[in-house]
Amino acid sequence: MTSSDGIPARSLPVSARAPGKCVLFGEHAVVHGCPELVVAIDLSTQVVLRAAPQLSLNADPNAAESNPYFRAALDGSWRGGPPIAVRSVTRIPRSAGLGSSAAFVCALGAALGAATGGVDRAGLAQRSFEVERGAQGVGSPGDTSASVAGGYVALNGGPGEPLWTVTAGERRWSVRRVEDPRWSWVVAYSGVPRSTADAVRAVAERLARPDGPALLAEFEEVARAGIASVGRGDRRETGELLRRNQELLRTVGVSHPRLEALLAAAEPLAEAAKITGAGAGGSIVALPRAGREGELVRTLARAGALPLPVRAEPLGAGLVEEPPAG
Ligand code: PMV
Repeated sequence: MTSSDGIPARSLPVSARAPGKCVLFGEHAVVHGCPELVVAIDLSTQVVLRAAPQLSLNADPNAAESNPYFRAALDGSWRGGPPIAVRSVTRIPRSAGLGSSAAFVCALGAALGAATGGVDRAGLAQRSFEVERGAQGVGSPGDTSASVAGGYVALNGGPGEPLWTVTAGERRWSVRRVEDPRWSWVVAYSGVPRSTADAVRAVAERLARPDGPALLAEFEEVARAGIASVGRGDRRETGELLRRNQELLRTVGVSHPRLEALLAAAEPLAEAAKITGAGAGGSIVALPRAGREGELVRTLARAGALPLPVRAEPLGAGLVEEPPAG
C-alpha cells in the first residue's frame, strides 16, 4: 500500500492501523493559519472491528458515551450501522503529544470506511479531522493528515506534491508531501499529561496580545525554512530552526519545568531539541547528533522520561490484510 492508495471496501471483520505523529515545526501557529511540518512516526494503533450482539470498545459497552473520539467516529461513519465490537491496541503513549488520538481516529476511520464501501485518502483525512475536532473542540488537521498520509507532511506551505485540502467552515488547510530525509529522531515523554484543547486556548489568548502578530510572523518564517531544510536533508540548518521554534514555544508559554529539564539533558547529544505538540507537559523531540542516538536515549531515560527512538513511518492509515483471529 502507498500513501496515494485509497482504503478499499471490505466486509467485517476488518482491521486497520494508523501511525502516531510528531510535530517538528509550527505547532500552535498552525491553528492560526501558519505552516506546520509533521512526521508520521513508526509507533501505531491497530483496530479490529467485528460483528457483535452489542456495540463495544475494548469490551466496554459504554464507550460510545464515555469516549468522545469513539462517539464522534461512529456518528460520522456508522450511524444506523449494525452493532460492532471494536478492539484497539497501541504503542503510542496517551496524552503525550504523539498523536494517539489521531492514530485511533484514523485507524478506526479506515476500518469503518472499508466496512462502508471504501474511502479515498482525501476523504479519510477530512473525516478524521472532523472526528478529532468534534471530540476536542479545537485544533488543526496536522495530526490526522500525517496519520492518513504517512511520512513527512507540510500544512499551509512547502513546495511538495499537494496531497489534499482539509476544510472547517471557511477555513482551509493545504496538505503537501515533504521529501523524507531518512533521519532518526528521539521523542521523549515527560510523564506530565496535558490537554491539547487547554493549551491551544491559552496560546490563542497569548497571541491576542499586541506582539501576537509579530510572533506568528516569526513562527511562519521558521516553519517555512524548516520545511525546506528538512526536505533538503540539511541537519545543521534544521537544528538551528528547531532551536528558534523552541524559543517561540517558550515565549507563548507552553514550556514546563520537566520539559526544560529534558531539553537541557538532550542538549549536548542533539543537533537540537524542542517541545513537540501542544506542550505544557507532553513530549520533546530531539534530532540526535550523528552516532549519539543510543547515548541520548539513555540520558533521557536517566532524566526520568520515556524516550522512544522513532523514524518516519512511510505508510499512512491502511488495512491490515489478515484481521487477527478471535
Ligand atoms: O495534541 P498535540 O500535543 O499533538 O498538539 C497538536 C498541535 C497543536 O498545534 C498544538 C494543536 C493542533 O491541533 O494543531
